[in-house]
Amino acid sequence: MKKHFFSGIQPSGKLHIGNYLGAIKQWIALQDQYEPVFGIVDYHAMTVRYDPAEMGERVLDAAASYLAAGLDPSKSILMVQSDVPEHTELAWIMNCITPMGRLSRIPTFKEKVRQHPDNVNMGLFDYPVLMAADILLYKSEIVPVGEDQVPHLEFTREVARRFNAVFGETFPEPAEVLSTGARILGLDGVNKMSKSLDNCIYLDDTDEDIRKKLATAFTDPARKRRDDPGDPDICNIMNLHRVFSTPEEQKRCAEGCREASIGCVDCKKILMGHMMEMIAPLRERKADLLARPDDVRDILRAGAERARPIARATMDEVRRAVGVSVT
Ligand code: TRP
Repeated sequence: MKKHFFSGIQPSGKLHIGNYLGAIKQWIALQDQYEPVFGIVDYHAMTVRYDPAEMGERVLDAAASYLAAGLDPSKSILMVQSDVPEHTELAWIMNCITPMGRLSRIPTFKEKVRQHPDNVNMGLFDYPVLMAADILLYKSEIVPVGEDQVPHLEFTREVARRFNAVFGETFPEPAEVLSTGARILGLDGVNKMSKSLDNCIYLDDTDEDIRKKLATAFTDPARKRRDDPGDPDICNIMNLHRVFSTPEEQKRCAEGCREASIGCVDCKKILMGHMMEMIAPLRERKADLLARPDDVRDILRAGAERARPIARATMDEVRRAVGVSVT
């Protein structure tokens, strides 16, 4: 039987090529070696203000995005966190062994307090405990996450250690698996691709979106005219060619740039063709899934049904260990 691990998916909408090439592709590849639990973490999403009328759609959209990106529901378990109540059940027990002072030092909490000073709620404070519960419930030994989540993983290991010390050896200490995928800069050529910076190519962008975005994407700023030679080493379009284009095309574009024998427009055209080719099937798969939301709901329901017995088995063990199970 394959081991499980849990990884959380925020129901916060669109994925961009940075998410996909930098991480998602690799995480999904783990589904051959493990039986991963990919959970759409709606309870975590409740820690900031949100519109209840939109949450359901956000969850379905996230599910469709991951399915379109290659998550295979016959290999992975795709579920919604709130459909498996053991997550919050374990979080309560972990709350009781977690010092408040430790939580107040978590960097993401401090950041959220800065961002939303008018909504510093208990859920926000407790966010890392629920996340630790997500991970430990499936006895995860690895957790694929982004770099920004490392403090949460350190905290999760502490929770596991503390639980084991107080109640007996129960949980492994999970290690983070950081993606080694390409680091994709945004179309500004300076910042990491990020939704909040509006510098993204999304996995559901149309050909027309891609065309428009690439037309205004930054190249070597020193290359002002077609006849100026450019420096491909500092050009972000060249950086993207390294991910999308063939070695021959990369060579042709880099040399052509240095000699001013190829203009930025033609160089971008080659990239554009490859980008459209990669994105079109993902966009179509996602649209196809969202056109039949009941099928996506069925996948999520089946996912919760598969997750539940695993979660229940851990909870039975935990309840015995902490001494609350007398019946
Ligand atoms: N905090 C994670 C994020 O913002 C989401 C998350 C919730 C998660 N629970 C998790 C990630 C468990 C990994 C494992 O992206």
